[in-house]
Amino acid sequence: MSFFYALSAVTKSDSRNKNFSSGNILSPLLIRNFITKKNLIMSNATQLIHSIPVDPLTGAISVPIYQTSTYVQEAPGVNKGYDYARSNNPTRGTLESIIAQLEKGAVGIAFGSGLAAIDAVVKLLKAGDEILAVDDIYGGAFRLFTHIYEKFGITVNYVDTTNAENVFNAITPNTKLIWLETPTNPTLKVSDIEAIAKIAKAHSCLLCVDNTFASPALQQPLTLGADLVVHSATKYLGGHSDLIAGLVVTKEKELGEKVKFIQNASGAILAPFDSWLVIRGIETLHLRVQQHCRNAQAVAEFLETHPDVANVFYPGLKKHFNHETAKKQSKGFGGIVSFTLKNDTEEAATAFVSGTQYFKLAESLGGVKSLLCHPAQMTHKSIPAEKRRAAGVADSLIRLSVGLEEVEDLIADLEQTFTRLKETKKDLVTSISA
Ligand SMILES: Cc1ncc(COP(=O)(O)O)c(C=O)c1O
Repeated sequence: MSFFYALSAVTKSDSRNKNFSSGNILSPLLIRNFITKKNLIMSNATQLIHSIPVDPLTGAISVPIYQTSTYVQEAPGVNKGYDYARSNNPTRGTLESIIAQLEKGAVGIAFGSGLAAIDAVVKLLKAGDEILAVDDIYGGAFRLFTHIYEKFGITVNYVDTTNAENVFNAITPNTKLIWLETPTNPTLKVSDIEAIAKIAKAHSCLLCVDNTFASPALQQPLTLGADLVVHSATKYLGGHSDLIAGLVVTKEKELGEKVKFIQNASGAILAPFDSWLVIRGIETLHLRVQQHCRNAQAVAEFLETHPDVANVFYPGLKKHFNHETAKKQSKGFGGIVSFTLKNDTEEAATAFVSGTQYFKLAESLGGVKSLLCHPAQMTHKSIPAEKRRAAGVADSLIRLSVGLEEVEDLIADLEQTFTRLKETKKDLVTSISA
């Protein structure tokens, strides 16, 4: 129970007692207690907004930021449940309890970055264990697995998880963790969480899903059989490109306690102010994600018809390899669209990503403003070129994080970039042949 829930239980029962002793039968508090006893059915958006508690001490509608490193104790070990802020902080604790509710898990644990969250999950393993991971994995996770954990004796086997059979065939007795991203970054590959969860269970290994791209507004992997979910909360959960944060949610309490132990032992905690920023972002998550999905669908459909585009990757397109799986396991298809150019070169992609106006060239995604990037030279440059290409990240692949601007403006921006590139090429040919 988080600090706020514990305190609100105490204050509620106190005020109820006072109320009874006053003998005021129709007092507002009694009426309120009567009303809240009714079992209201909550939609996801309502549940989300009301999972953010009102401060029981002051009634503050916004969660207070407890900017403190330590807590005064009455006697050694006698305290109010808090002794040192690396171990526990009420603002961070509130975020952890909100994300656990949103992902329908038992325990939420907040970290200083998405990678720190991934790192904490890998620390559940020991030397000799194997990870079976999606081949089109986020570059930073690949770097962490390869350059940090391989030297500690944890090996990783990358497979195309879009076909659950590949997972079944690749599992060995040493596989202790299956690592999925769905949809993946940046080629939007979709894997069947439920089918892979069954394989994981049958082989007694954990299934962890990086749910960064979908967010719990669209997809809740724990309800589909996963054991853990991780987030780069830097993206849709934060939603405003103003923080770096990571979250882990476990389905079972026991596993959550292990991750919580790692959080305290390794120390990569999320600061109180950043915890508050994520809570603030979560307040509008459903609304933002709905609009991201609408805009991204329109952008993907525009790109699909453009003569200079070779391939478009978006789970909302009917021709997407796993469109039906995406439809089955998520409520929408997200805000990220990737595409390759017919001129499949790094030079052509560089010219494109340097030429847009509203789509800003930047790493990251999931914010209000539209961004674009060239994974081969940016987010995925830590993956060797052959491995990167084999996983579908072509030289000209461009990733769009479709923001919340008017979609007509975004499409016009892409259109004018294609046109200007063509004109520049024509001018170049004319000047060479002149
Ligand atoms: C899918 C995915 N997971 C994890 C991360 C790492 O998150 P962070 O940058 O917050 O450490 C990223 C970052 O881009 C990502 O895209």
